[in-house]
Order: sequence, then structure tokens, then C-alpha cells
Amino acid sequence: MTSLNMKRVLITGAARGLGRAMAESFAAEGAEVVLTDLDAEGLDDAREALSSAGARCRTYVLDVTDPAAIAEAREALHADAGTVDILVNNAGVVFGGEFLEVPLEKHHLTYRVNVEGPVNMTHAFLEDVIGSPRGHLVYIASASGYVGLPGGTTYASSKWAAIGFAESIRAELKHQGHRRVGVTTVCPTYIATGMFEGVAPPKTTSMLDPARIAAKVVTAVKRRKVWVREPWIVKITPLLKHGLPTPVSDFLSDAFGASKSMDHWQGHGKSGE
Ligand SMILES: NC(=O)c1ccc[n+]([C@@H]2O[C@H](COP(=O)([O-])OP(=O)(O)OC[C@H]3O[C@@H](n4cnc5c(N)ncnc54)[C@H](O)[C@@H]3O)[C@@H](O)[C@H]2O)c1
Repeated sequence: MTSLNMKRVLITGAARGLGRAMAESFAAEGAEVVLTDLDAEGLDDAREALSSAGARCRTYVLDVTDPAAIAEAREALHADAGTVDILVNNAGVVFGGEFLEVPLEKHHLTYRVNVEGPVNMTHAFLEDVIGSPRGHLVYIASASGYVGLPGGTTYASSKWAAIGFAESIRAELKHQGHRRVGVTTVCPTYIATGMFEGVAPPKTTSMLDPARIAAKVVTAVKRRKVWVREPWIVKITPLLKHGLPTPVSDFLSDAFGASKSMDHWQGHGKSGE
């Protein structure tokens, strides 16, 4: 098992929600946490809370869609502290609604943040991670990366891309012989962070607790697990989706309520964030 003590963990989108919960969980393991986000005020708030709880913590305002800002933050971090051992690609956005009702620029923004963001960050920090004695890359995807999601077309497809990217970088690192670098892909259903306020979780599941998912991510990094799929239904979703005839998997998606889950979405992106 990898000890996280003294490891430097950079997390994107860490001002609130799952990112902040993961910062708390990594810090509890003795890691130095580097919180990044475009929300400067939220970052200040998170740093104050973490620092007063005794965590070693730094913050950098950073937009994952902006390679120049990422390069600047990387330079500053290297000068202030040093390189990164673990990169957690968490920042994400969703703009729910029927495809034509969502402005085209919101669909594009979803891809820029959720797809190009992790690519930009990995491009900037991969050398750091490879140079670490026990480097690790984490990609926060989603259970929607395995299915079609009415009312979340570009969100779900951005998470299909996130899974494909994480799998490809994992395969490439293995092919290159970088066996000390772990890669974990995280695929949860709905988490109670406000991002998916108003949705109906699929039947047999409920809203997940961010602290619990954060703890699962930290355990996965320590044990070098490739997948975090939560709850249980997500562990068999790829099999149901790809192992069954399409009409049967469509029927199951309707029966579990996944097809209607976004109908009453009221999450963060609703106000144009
Ligand atoms: N909440 C859920 O139900 C759920 C389920 C599965 C996966 N996820 C994924 O988990 C991750 C975290 O989601 P959350 O629920 O904590 O959402 P959230 O909205 O609470 O937090 C997202 C954070 O990302 C930041 N962010 C947005 N755009 C950014 C950008 N361009 N650059 C830097 N930071 C940016 C926001 O400021 C915010 O602090 C996302 O990738 C999301 O897709 C969430």
C-alpha cells in the first residue's frame, strides 16, 4: 500500500464539493494538498478551513481550460514548493436540459472543462508525476460515462471521453514501462454536492455522500486501484450496457429510472455558472 504521508496532491475544482472533500481526505493521510479552482473566494475559504484543521495546504487560482494559466501556476508551485506526486482531475461542469434548449456555448464549455481540462492538466503535470517515486493520476469521470443521459448529452459524453482518456494514458504509461505510476478512474452516480440538485437518483440508489466517495478515492490511490465505481450498480453497468442487446439495456435504463433522472435538474450550472 502506498503511504500518502508527505506526498503533494494537486486537485482541480477543489473550492467546493467533491474536490474539497478529497482535499480533506488526502490531508487526513498526511499529504500536502494543492487546491486549485477558478473560484478564488471558495479557495480562500477552503484553505482557511483546512489550515485551521492542521492540514498542509496551498491554493492557486487556475482555470483548467487555460493552458497559459496552468503553466503559470505550475511555475509558481515549483518555485514555492516543488513538483506534484498525485494529480486529481476533478473540475467539472454540467448544463442540464434538452439538447436544443441548452445554448451551444454551454455544450462547448462542458467539453472545454470536462475533456480539455484533464488533457491540459495531464500535459502540464505528467512529467512531475512520472518523476515521483509513486506518482498517480486520478480522473473523476461519472457513471454517466457508461450510458446515454437524456438532459445531459454533452455532460455524459464528456465523461465517456474522460474514461477513454484515462484508459489510454494508463495503457500508454504501462507500454512505456512506467509501472510506478498509478491511474484511477472514478465513476460515481449522483453525489450530494449541489451540482445535480433536483435529479432523481436511479432506483435502488440514493444521493452519494461526497466524504464517502472522497475516502474511496484516497483508498484507491493507496491501493493503486484502477477503478472506483459507486454504488454497486455501476460495477455491472459496463456489462449491462455492452453485453446485452441494445433494446434490453434501453429497457433496463428506463426501468432503473436513469432515463428520467435529469428531468428536474436544478444544479449549479442552471444559473449560468
Ligand atoms: N455531483 C455529482 O453528482 C457527480 C457525479 C459524478 C461525477 N461528478 C464529477 O465530480 C467532479 C466534481 O463535481 P462536484 O459535484 O464537486 O461539482 P461542484 O460544482 O460542486 O464543484 C466543481 C468545482 O469545479 C470548479 N470549476 C468549474 N469549472 C472550472 C474550471 N474551468 N477550472 C477550474 N475549476 C473549475 C468549480 O468552481 C467548483 O469549485 C466533476 O468532474 C463532476 O462531473 C459529480
